[in-house]
Amino acid sequence: MRVESLEASGFRNLSSLGLFPSPGANVIYGENGQGKTNLLEAIWIFTGGRSFRGAKDGEMVRLNGGEASLSLSFFSEERKQEICLRLREGKRFFTLNGVKKRSSSEVVGKFCAVIFSPEHLSLVKDGPSGRRQFLDSALCQSRPSFAGLITQYNRTLFQRNALLKDIPRHPELLDTLEIWDMRLSQFGEKMTQGRLQYVEALEPLAAAAYEGISGGRETLSLSYEKGYEDSLSKALSESRREDMRFGHTGKGPHRGDLAIRLNGVPARSFGSQGQQRSAVLALKLAEAELLKRFTGEEPVILLDDVLSELDSGRQEYLLNHLEGRQVFLTCCSPEPARRLQEGKRFFVEKGNVLETPPPDPEKERNPGISQ
Ligand SMILES: Nc1ncnc2c1ncn2[C@@H]1O[C@H](COP(=O)(O)OP(=O)(O)OP(=O)(O)O)[C@@H](O)[C@H]1O
Ligand SMILES: [Mg+2]
Repeated sequence: MRVESLEASGFRNLSSLGLFPSPGANVIYGENGQGKTNLLEAIWIFTGGRSFRGAKDGEMVRLNGGEASLSLSFFSEERKQEICLRLREGKRFFTLNGVKKRSSSEVVGKFCAVIFSPEHLSLVKDGPSGRRQFLDSALCQSRPSFAGLITQYNRTLFQRNALLKDIPRHPELLDTLEIWDMRLSQFGEKMTQGRLQYVEALEPLAAAAYEGISGGRETLSLSYEKGYEDSLSKALSESRREDMRFGHTGKGPHRGDLAIRLNGVPARSFGSQGQQRSAVLALKLAEAELLKRFTGEEPVILLDDVLSELDSGRQEYLLNHLEGRQVFLTCCSPEPARRLQEGKRFFVEKGNVLETPPPDPEKERNPGISQ
């Protein structure tokens, strides 16, 4: 999968633009507030997914503008394809290869990308709910039926919790708890199975990515903690008394967690800023690799502001060693753009995106010579 060209007008602060990126690395640099993340967002929107910044569709149209229109030419399934998108009155209108589509969901899966943005650091820094979400949304991409399973589990959990709250006033309802426990265990065990399998597949890939980023000096390991011991039905019956006292279900996959360890200790408590960032990156790169195995296409990698806090070895790996993948990487300083061995550089200023030529190696060696 690779972007061949992107056109955009009326999108956020970006001036009308026609971008022809490199099939390899693309560095987008410029000062704060100039439009770098907006440019990544303009690519991401074609995945059909929600904004990675939690923005509403209406917010992406230029302030005081009527509509935004974007088109993306990309190479996928061995042919050139095109998605056009208009954003108007908070709604998205898509065409795929010239054919009108009724909703975003009809383009999902056509153009695939993986995004790292600074908000994703919460994957390591915060509590388990973000990690469960990461696993579930990755699973849904590679196995669409998983989304239905999550809905069924959550619905059943909601009903069991409601019942737990009612039982003290209506003890006759106690018998029905058995039925909900059975349903919850069925859905829950399947969910656990899915997550366990996913983590098993993800772990070696994430470990390899982390090894690359850290220059082989550190190790990352993953394991899934399922949120209960033995079987879910046993856990539910054992914790029934407690559940009734608190009015909610204390055990189950809704309490599961993805344990991330660096050099054998939890990344959340012991990892440095740069190590935590590297761990999230490794997870994202591994997610991309798994998506590739599933769809046969390498997703486009979008890295927003990933380089800060990383030492030069780690930066160098991201700039020059993500072979075979198309990468868009934003940063504030022009320095990384200079260190890019192959690929293209784009300078963003006040919403204008300008391709800049590679640095002249002669000038780099003798900076005073041309003055
Ligand atoms: N709908 C919109 N219409 C016009 N301008 C907008 C809109 N949404 C955001 N902007 C402007 O876009 C700019 C931010 O762009 P962006 O987030 O891409 O910056 P950035 O280059 O990534 O900066 P940083 O390095 O700080 O992350 C802000 O100045 C903001 O006011
Ligand atoms: Mg930004």
